[in-house]
Amino acid sequence: PPRNVAVIVGSLRKASLNRKLALAIAALAPPTLKLSIVEIGDLPLFNEEWEANPPKPAADFKAAIQAADAVLFVTPEYNRSVPGALKNAIDVASRPYGKSAWSGKPGAVISASPGAIGGYGANHHLRQSCVFLNIPLLPHEAYIGQAHTLFDDAGNLKNDGTKDFLNQFLARFGPWIESNLPK
Ligand code: FNR
Repeated sequence: PPRNVAVIVGSLRKASLNRKLALAIAALAPPTLKLSIVEIGDLPLFNEEWEANPPKPAADFKAAIQAADAVLFVTPEYNRSVPGALKNAIDVASRPYGKSAWSGKPGAVISASPGAIGGYGANHHLRQSCVFLNIPLLPHEAYIGQAHTLFDDAGNLKNDGTKDFLNQFLARFGPWIESNLPK
């Protein structure tokens, strides 16, 4: 069976470039990887008062992360960091202490922006959280700049260079997952 990869998109808007990118990557993925977006838009803001007994959307999100073999973050950059909605989702599934859903789950980070530096700041803040969360993170970097130029109206990638880059990313991520799954 394919490895299930939970894809977390850092933008909540319907027309999100990062969502388009996530869907394009899911379509490019080999049969050994099944990429599915796990939504974060209906999560309540994390509150430590309820961490032992979380609201259903929070519990469901954590369970979806727990059930996945691996995680892929595809995120924009907001003010040189990750969007609050994404950080909230990370926090929700990380608690209570010692019961994090992220720990040991192989992962990868892709950032995309209409700007020239492809969400570098968000990418690296996110990588820092992944270190703390014990997510064995694919070393290969992916900063997708000029993201507003990459898709046609149907959301298909327009140029082969980007497709090649993403295929190469996936070709590294698959073996990375296999060699970093919890023993
Ligand atoms: C942005 N944007 C942005 N872009 C960037 O490259 N670096 C940044 O620091 C920021 N900061 C920022 C803050 C906020 C609050 C917003 C709403 C936007 C622009 C951002 O990259 C652009 O809107 C993307 O299209 C957002 O990603 P999605 O929604 O298209 O996936």
